[in-house]
Amino acid sequence: MLIGQLTDTHVVADADTAEHYVDNNARLSSAVASIVAEAPALDAVLVTGDLTDTSHPEAFATFRDTLASIDAPVLPLPGNHDGRNATRRALPDVGWVDAEHLSWVHDVRGVRVVGLDSTRRNYEGAEFDAVRAEFLDSVLAEPHDGATLLAMHHPPFPSGIEWMDDAGFVGLDWFLEVLAAHPGVVDKIVCGHLHRSVTSAVVGVPVQVGISTVQHVALDLVAGSDPALVFDPVGYQVHRITGSGMATQVATHTRFIETGESPFVPDWAADYDPTAPVVTSER
Ligand SMILES: [Fe+2]
Ligand SMILES: [Fe+2]
Repeated sequence: MLIGQLTDTHVVADADTAEHYVDNNARLSSAVASIVAEAPALDAVLVTGDLTDTSHPEAFATFRDTLASIDAPVLPLPGNHDGRNATRRALPDVGWVDAEHLSWVHDVRGVRVVGLDSTRRNYEGAEFDAVRAEFLDSVLAEPHDGATLLAMHHPPFPSGIEWMDDAGFVGLDWFLEVLAAHPGVVDKIVCGHLHRSVTSAVVGVPVQVGISTVQHVALDLVAGSDPALVFDPVGYQVHRITGSGMATQVATHTRFIETGESPFVPDWAADYDPTAPVVTSER
C-alpha cells in the first residue's frame, strides 16, 4: 500500500506577478514525471496544500493538467495560498465534506486517509475550530480495521523557525485534545507548509513534514532571524503502509528530483545476497 505525497507545489499563472525563485510549474512537472516513471505503483497521491501560489484559476488548471498523468487518485488539500472557494471551484471532485472547511475522508485500499483543512481564512497561519473539531472527532470515533493517515497543510507543532511559526495555529491545543481522545487511532500525520523535511510527534503520533517541490525554507533556529530561503534539493515523499492495529507501520521515503540522477543497477547486483554472511578483510 503506497501513498505518494507532493506538497507546496505553488503552481503559478502567467498573470501572477509575485517574485518566484525557481520555475514552480516546471518543478511540479519534474516531480510528476519522476512519480510516473519510478513510483508507478502508488495507490493515491496526496497534495498537502499550497497547491497554487495565488489561487489564480489558470494556476489551478495547470495544477490539474500536470497531475493528470498520474494513474492514481489525487487527493489535494488547501494551504494558506489556496482560497477555499477557488479550490472548491477548481477541484470539484475531491469529495469535500459539506461544510465551509475543505476536508475529506477517503478509503484507499483499506487505509483510512483523512484530509483536514488546517487553513485560517485570510491568514497565513492555521486554525482548528468547533466545526473541524466535530468533524475530526466523529471521523476518528468511527471504528476502522486498517491504518489511519491524517493529512493537513500546517504542521501541528512549532518548528523553531520563528518567522514560520509566528503565523500561529489557533486552536492547536484543541486539535491535540481531539487527537488524544482517540489514542492509537491515527498512525501518522503528514503535512507540508514548512518547505523542509521535519519529523516530530504530537501526543504520541508521529508527524512527517514533506518537502516542497519549489524552494526550501532555510534551517535557521536562531530567534529573531529574518526569513531566509535555501535551494536545497526538492522532491516528494512515498509512504509505505503495512499491517494493521499494533502492527501498523508507515515508512516514509523521500525522492529528490532535478538532481540529474536516475536509478541504475550496480555491477554487483546480479550476485547480491543480502542474507549471506559478510566477508571483509577485518573479520
Ligand atoms: Fe508553501
Ligand atoms: Fe503554507
